[in-house]
Amino acid sequence: MNFKNLLYNTEEKIGLITINRPSKLNALNSETLDELQTLFENVEKDNSINVVIITGAGDKAFVAGADINELRECNYESGISFSEKGQNVFNLIENFDKPVIAAVNGFALGGGCELALACHIRLASANSKFGQPEVNLGIIPGYGGTQRLSRMINTGRAAEYILTGDMISAEEALNIGLVNKIFTNENLIDEAKKMANRIAEKGQIAIRLALKSIQSTNNISQIEGLKFETKLFAECCNTADFKEGTSAFLEKRKPNFKNK
Ligand code: COA
Repeated sequence: MNFKNLLYNTEEKIGLITINRPSKLNALNSETLDELQTLFENVEKDNSINVVIITGAGDKAFVAGADINELRECNYESGISFSEKGQNVFNLIENFDKPVIAAVNGFALGGGCELALACHIRLASANSKFGQPEVNLGIIPGYGGTQRLSRMINTGRAAEYILTGDMISAEEALNIGLVNKIFTNENLIDEAKKMANRIAEKGQIAIRLALKSIQSTNNISQIEGLKFETKLFAECCNTADFKEGTSAFLEKRKPNFKNK
């Protein structure tokens, strides 16, 4: 797969996506969003890939936001489609049926922070900086930031960051639960790959159903969510992987999952 603004490499069962516009700090223009949509749709169909990592090219930025050159042309009508386009791609990532790990390696601002928020796990380099600085441009976050940040941290904190536009250091992001772990800049990608490999080695039916159950919390009440979890739990009980995983534990050996 060849893209103008993305690099895509595979290593065993991991797909590594790099947003590749370093001269613009990997800002998301419309072409890059289209490419991301196409790539994720292709990876979803690729049974050889179990986990996706997404990062930014260069050592300065993950993604420094939506492309302000395109953004500045928006009026009310085009503002709706601008916002919906980014939201659609990020919804695709949030609801992706394989785990997506954001390896945040620098500025994750505006659309970059929103992209990280749509991923399932966020790992960050010590020099990374998060933030929703849209108010500095006279707009508000439009790729899901007001919704996902408020749910992920809490509404008071989200209000502070969105209303001040202040940047959030990696350490602060860790303290408020915005990122899972921090690594040195040099180690970030290797550590993301290690985590991805740990997930990729498990029985993938359980991984996909666990993700599906977690994703349902966005759309349904806890009572409905618990019923949904029970149904997916029971589906797992019907698999050969479940028999293998429990037998391997009792026989004190490594499980050999067949994803069946
Ligand atoms: N859209 C378009 N271009 C962007 C961009 C964005 N969101 N963010 C950075 N760039 C471009 C700059 O215009 C510059 O391009 P140029 O070299 O052609 O002039 C290049 O990337 C490097 O950025 P620069 O601002 O020179 O780097 P810096 O180290 O001085 O500052 C930031 C880094 C991230 C603090 C600064 O680029 C910034 O504030 N970016 C915008 C962040 C933002 O508001 N995002 C939300 C958008 S909705």
